[in-house]
Amino acid sequence: MCGIVNCNINGIVKTFPVIYGSLNEKAINISTLREQTGYITFDPGFKNTSIAKSSISFVDGEKGILLYRGYPIEEIIQKCTFLKTSYLLLNGELPNEKQLHNFSYMINQVNISNNNTKILQIFEKYPINTHPMGILSSLSSILEFMQEENNNNIFIHLLAKFPILAALIYRKKHGLSPVNYDNTLYYTSNIVNMFFATNNDKPNYIIVDALDKLLILHADHEQNCSTTTVRLLSSAHVSLYASIAAGISALWGRLHGGANEAVIEMLENILHNGGNIKKWIEKAKNKKDPFRLMGFGHRIYKNFDPRAIIIKQVAENIMKKLKFNNPILQLAKELEEVAINDSYFIEKKLYPNIDFYSGIIYQAIGIPKDMFTVMFALGRLPGWIAHWKEMRLNQEPLVRPRQIYVGYKKRNIL
Ligand code: ACO
Repeated sequence: MCGIVNCNINGIVKTFPVIYGSLNEKAINISTLREQTGYITFDPGFKNTSIAKSSISFVDGEKGILLYRGYPIEEIIQKCTFLKTSYLLLNGELPNEKQLHNFSYMINQVNISNNNTKILQIFEKYPINTHPMGILSSLSSILEFMQEENNNNIFIHLLAKFPILAALIYRKKHGLSPVNYDNTLYYTSNIVNMFFATNNDKPNYIIVDALDKLLILHADHEQNCSTTTVRLLSSAHVSLYASIAAGISALWGRLHGGANEAVIEMLENILHNGGNIKKWIEKAKNKKDPFRLMGFGHRIYKNFDPRAIIIKQVAENIMKKLKFNNPILQLAKELEEVAINDSYFIEKKLYPNIDFYSGIIYQAIGIPKDMFTVMFALGRLPGWIAHWKEMRLNQEPLVRPRQIYVGYKKRNIL
């Protein structure tokens, strides 16, 4: 499909081509706008700007649709594991049995042929109170210099090492010695084992299953803030490792991935202060009050977040199966009910997002609050890698926006 739009700028009509996506998204290609007219566009927060053509994932915020390489998230969650999903995101197609086996084998090879002495030595230098996201970000950059000579697949190297880094961060913070990677276990079982193993017990299947689902739901989400950060660095030909480190830092922000930690803090605070939900809803609506309902609202989803619906079910399931009685789940459900029926939230199209219930699952699993966003990063890693790779394969240009300068006019030092 092709098309054009005509723009009347100061009485002169200029023509711009229209680009169509495979699901009928339309964009005006304004790459020659300044050259043709002297104007640039102004779009704070990139609310109306598509940064690139991408074939990794698709979001329709009005209809609540999320596709990974064309497959609906509701189908992926039922039929795929996280490892299979990662393969799909990285390679564009679902793997057959042999391809999946090789993928898993390559990850295992990195982890068994590589002891973690160097990582542990660096790790010892971090002050104990460093936030896990800060440690994860800096260790990700350093990983670049710990590549074994016989392993030149940087994508596999990162996928293999991330669970080890996360588990080391958790165990060090809790004064526990590291648990070795076990190449007989599935990827997510290894995460659970390296976090929690105390003896030779097999990792709890209920926990592995819930965590695997969380990782899948976090695996990609087109041009979100952290992914755009990774893409931006890729455009400047920054290494994959340093780009991922930057993505982790972007994810840490409370308006983005850091919201999962903020949600539990908010719910605990509400509970601690008597559980008066109406009072907190009023605070969130008050423009003079900086408080926002964390885990609510999304830049793209204006109807519902399909991931939040699945996560709520996973949260209810795991609490039941583990017989984990946490008043926070009940509070979250009540808060959601009041908010989604309140005219402020209805008018502004604010619904629970992926972070609203994820922290409740992490708590049930036994993961502490300051590790929540690290778990998000574990899930988002294949998506980040796929976007970094896509930028390079498509030879996308250096990302370098313009600005409207509103500072001093030229002046001289007196
Ligand atoms: N609580 C109360 N009011 C809100 C909330 C909220 N959670 N979110 C948005 N609003 C209001 C804003 O005050 C604004 O009101 P106004 O039009 O009267 O000024 C309006 O809704 C639009 O909000 P924006 O911030 O302009 O919308 P935007 O699309 O830029 O923001 C965001 C999306 C940042 C996610 C926002 O909804 C928010 O801050 N939510 C809470 C943090 C959160 O949960 N982040 C996780 C997002 S999911 C993820 O990144 C993994």
